[in-house]
Amino acid sequence: MKVLSAASELFPLVKTGGLADVTGALPAALGQQGVAVTTIVPGYPAVMAALERPAAFHAYADLFGGPAQLIRGTAHGLDIIAIDAPHLFDRPGNPYLGKDGKDWPDNAQRFAALARAAAEVAGGINPRYRADVLHCHDWQAALGPVYTRFLGGPRSVMTVHNIAFQGQFPATVFGLLGLPQQAFAIDGVEYYGNVGYLKGGLATADAITTVSPTYAQEICTPEYGMGLDGLLRARRNVLRGIVNGIDTDVWDPESDRRIPQTYGARSLKKREANKRALEARFKLEPGDGLIHGVVSRLTWQKGMDIFAASLDALVATGARLALLGTGETAIENAIFEASLRHPGRIGIIVGYDEDLSHLMQAGADTILVPSRFEPCGLTQLYGLRYGCVPVVARTGGLNDTVIDANDAALQAEVATGFQFAPVDEATLEHALGRVAECHANPKLWRGLQKRGMEQDVSWARSAAAYAQLYRNLVKA
Ligand code: ADP
Ligand code: GLC
Repeated sequence: MKVLSAASELFPLVKTGGLADVTGALPAALGQQGVAVTTIVPGYPAVMAALERPAAFHAYADLFGGPAQLIRGTAHGLDIIAIDAPHLFDRPGNPYLGKDGKDWPDNAQRFAALARAAAEVAGGINPRYRADVLHCHDWQAALGPVYTRFLGGPRSVMTVHNIAFQGQFPATVFGLLGLPQQAFAIDGVEYYGNVGYLKGGLATADAITTVSPTYAQEICTPEYGMGLDGLLRARRNVLRGIVNGIDTDVWDPESDRRIPQTYGARSLKKREANKRALEARFKLEPGDGLIHGVVSRLTWQKGMDIFAASLDALVATGARLALLGTGETAIENAIFEASLRHPGRIGIIVGYDEDLSHLMQAGADTILVPSRFEPCGLTQLYGLRYGCVPVVARTGGLNDTVIDANDAALQAEVATGFQFAPVDEATLEHALGRVAECHANPKLWRGLQKRGMEQDVSWARSAAAYAQLYRNLVKA
């Protein structure tokens, strides 16, 4: 079984969030299931620089405004096809935004190119490679199923990692896409008179998945569907949720080279050295008391505005906070101001730091995820594996991966963390109180940590589910 995965991010080459972690880890896990995954990605500078044994196999005289080449190679054990199109992708920094923080003005062309090349490669533009299934991730690759549907190609899977990002463009973009006129319709890319990339992918894919069972239900409702819920309800028979796993080699507290002290479920005491390192890094006053950790985009989705407003209450429970994140300026400022009000109790590092994100999971006592919506969420999974107890909103994948420490779950000894809902200041503050109370009971706390560390958060089960989905599609 050969699958071509199309995505705009791929760990460790290019990452702005969980999408990269997923597209980077799934190929190896699928390999174990007898599925050979090749990943087609834009030829950003970081991708072109990392490519080993590059071999060009196709040239375009004009791919959305300039010449391009398709280059196959490997990097970090991944089998990659890079779209070397300098006019679209040879730009430093963030894959979607220019230096001014605004979307690149030609994102419609850039990601149409990704999808078009993906569909053509999957369909056999190179006689030596043809995919059984084209698997497209998020709006940036979502025209893939549209191209295979209208221009020919294999069966397709569309995975929604976040329905908030849809890739909507003015109707004039349609003329650039090289699709037949009938694709500008309700069962194609047309969306309220404009062009919707994700909408098109959802309308035309043979199967739709999203990254947790709860989110699969949620996006069929007006509250979470962001305008696409009607379409998803109509396609419910091909929609399913498959929860994300994590790369247990990259995230392994027993062998992690990014943390000062490795440890396991039976040597949790050793974790304290990491806590000391975390205190030093965030300029927190040292002590054995509770340290909450946050590793997050600082956005509305992540509930970070509400969190910022609850920081005095957090400190009042006696806890400290170490926060690593970047995002909306107003939220960054609110947290920064709280850190000035509570020196030694609230530490904030604004920025994106992969190494530090490992120390957070290895040294903090909790990982807080108060998201308004969360398709899956990965930081709570890293937390489980690192004995860093997740405190999460009861939504999306957070609901599916953390077992709340309510009385019944504590009695049955199955709890792994804390859930709360709805996401508002009062409920969050109540949850922080519950956490502080539980942390004061070391036996109870150890139980949460150990059970979390024993939970299977690997890709094994979910990779098997994807493999089965591909097989069913090819058979059908
Ligand atoms: P999302 O993709 O919505 O941002 P996820 O929880 O799925 O949420 O994935 C976020 C990923 O990005 C995780 O790997 C997390 O560790 C990482 N991350 C988020 N913010 C930062 C940051 N400031 N520094 C380092 N890593 C970060
Ligand atoms: C998106 C979602 C996040 C999910 C990630 C990987 O970024 O916001 O919840 O974990 O994709 O699927």
